[in-house]
Amino acid sequence: MKATKLAAALGLATIATPALAETAPVTATSPDGSVRVALTIDGDGRAAYSVSRSGKVIIAPSKLGFLLTDTPKIDRRLAISGQEVRDFDQTWTQPWGEWEHIRNNYRELKVHLKETTALARIFSVTFRIYDDGVGFRYEFPGQPNMASTNIADELTEFAFAQEGTAWWKPAFLWNREEYLYNKTPLSAVSTAATPTTIKLADGTHVALHEAALVDYSGMAVTRTEGTAFRANLTPGAGEAKVRKSGAWNTPWRTLIIADDAAGIYQSHLMLNLNEPNKLGDISWFKPGKFAGVWWNMIKGEWSWARGPRHGATSENVKRYIDFAAANGIPHVLVEGWNVGWDGDWFGNGHDMDFAQPTEDFDADMLVAYGKKKGVRLIGHHETGGAATHYENQFDKAFRFAADHHYMVVKTGYVTDAGQMEREDPDGRKYREWHEGQWMVNHQLRVVETAAKYRIAIDSHEPVKGTGLHRTYPNWVAREGMRGMEYNAWGGKNPPEHEANVVFTRMLEGPMDFTPGILSLEGERGSAILSTIAKQLALYVVLYSPVQMVADTPENYAKYPGPMKFIRDVPTDWQETRVLNGEIGDYVTIARKERGGEGWYVGAVGDEEARTVSFKLDFLSPGKRYKAEIYRDGDDADYRTEKRHAITIEGKTMTSSDSLTLRIAPGGGFAVRLVPLS
Ligand code: NOJ
Ligand code: CA
Repeated sequence: MKATKLAAALGLATIATPALAETAPVTATSPDGSVRVALTIDGDGRAAYSVSRSGKVIIAPSKLGFLLTDTPKIDRRLAISGQEVRDFDQTWTQPWGEWEHIRNNYRELKVHLKETTALARIFSVTFRIYDDGVGFRYEFPGQPNMASTNIADELTEFAFAQEGTAWWKPAFLWNREEYLYNKTPLSAVSTAATPTTIKLADGTHVALHEAALVDYSGMAVTRTEGTAFRANLTPGAGEAKVRKSGAWNTPWRTLIIADDAAGIYQSHLMLNLNEPNKLGDISWFKPGKFAGVWWNMIKGEWSWARGPRHGATSENVKRYIDFAAANGIPHVLVEGWNVGWDGDWFGNGHDMDFAQPTEDFDADMLVAYGKKKGVRLIGHHETGGAATHYENQFDKAFRFAADHHYMVVKTGYVTDAGQMEREDPDGRKYREWHEGQWMVNHQLRVVETAAKYRIAIDSHEPVKGTGLHRTYPNWVAREGMRGMEYNAWGGKNPPEHEANVVFTRMLEGPMDFTPGILSLEGERGSAILSTIAKQLALYVVLYSPVQMVADTPENYAKYPGPMKFIRDVPTDWQETRVLNGEIGDYVTIARKERGGEGWYVGAVGDEEARTVSFKLDFLSPGKRYKAEIYRDGDDADYRTEKRHAITIEGKTMTSSDSLTLRIAPGGGFAVRLVPLS
């Protein structure tokens, strides 16, 4: 049926136009000409975009549009009413991060579209075209026929032009973001959370994600047929997945495109698509490590709840402060310090009081003790999913944190997917999703409130990272993946996990993975599928400006040699280089410390042994460096008692040298390079 006949059959008014003619594509290229975007309108007035790189099609024509809950969808009878192109090239500075300076260089193509129906709705699709990919978003100006917009789903498609291999985790299942990555043909993906990373048949790597997720719901993608996908927005509590009014825009839909896995990691596209810092001076936040009254709870030996096994006692916390002070660690996280954990708190945070310590946790004494030793506490706000209950306490919670000298608060939303509790002022309750529009807004309210009190946020069970730490640099870390805690329990993270995570989850930004379990033991002595050297490597490989020293003081006392690396490794970087890597197999990353000349290299592998060589050409020429090498012992193996075998050795190296190091099954290595004066 022709579009006009169809519209008439549906009772929609149309302007009397014949079928639209296909328009010539509107195109633009990236600054170096390698990435090209085209937007076309077909004979039914449907808009589609495509993306190619160096002449090869990456995204075949893919449709654009919206399904609405209460008015006709937007996808047919569109016409191009104008276009604008502009160039942008600026370098900006990150207050903390993996790179100090970031160049933001793109060509922007804005295509104005207008419906040829009586509704005559107008919008633009804006593409920012980089040499390493594309971001695009829809922008709707305020208009009479769209005073409010209720989005049932976004019809944006991503039709990959080739088969490939995809690393992806399922979306909308009960355990939120905490699934292992699947590795399947692209044509076998079902519904995937983003970032999803794909190695196309010709070797080109592509990462599909989104940037600047603000007042909108998170996007997953569902495969429609072959290698084509369509956006699938996170549900809301009502009919519409997203509600907007007045002028609005979507987050950026992003495609990072590179020759190899290293190139994907090194892209700055997501950060660049976010707005600059809105908080101004953030110098009160200093990146650093933290110990924590934590691993014993995760292993089930101590409890969050009060009672004989309570972990957050003044005595225990004092011991952790002593341990932190002795190792130059500036923070101690304390979980279970507050009233509210005694009952069944999973999915039920109604008893949580974020300003009321338990009677065996002497907050004032501990803060004073910590001050003497140069150690601050990190507060913990576990909401159990009772998000409104938390919001109702914002002021007293963050006032308590600020009064107690905290620089960082860790939040938590432990409840199943789709079970976040929202309570409106009229007393009505709703069940929301962790990445739905309401929670996206809630998380930003937490971060903005915390900023007023000069507190940084590390969110667990969060909304995925979309580069908002550029705009809100007090949003310093988040979880959003299976972290170390899974190694305490049954069903441990497999050896390839971190080599998957680097090229998928880490594209979102800092992760509070909580590395450094040198004991390599979870609950009841169960073996973690790693070597010690790999635990050290994680401090370099998995970036976070707040990095946990996650094992217990007693366990660290058993490993003084490896502990030196944990003491030395910084958490803030001037520069980062991915030296090599294949998704899910291995990766080697070198980082230069901020405010110093030292370099740190970390590598992690999978279940296979391999030898990795890399040049030290990132070192300053003419300088000599002492290399402190922490490598898997010759007989190290994650499957045996030898997983603790580590060799620590020193060498003198220059920028013209190379290093060749063996990674054991389940292993890795860490290297510290300090200039010799
Ligand atoms: C899950 C978090 O990831 C973990 O770090 C925390 O200890 C527990 N929730 C309790 O809040
Ligand atoms: Ca978690």
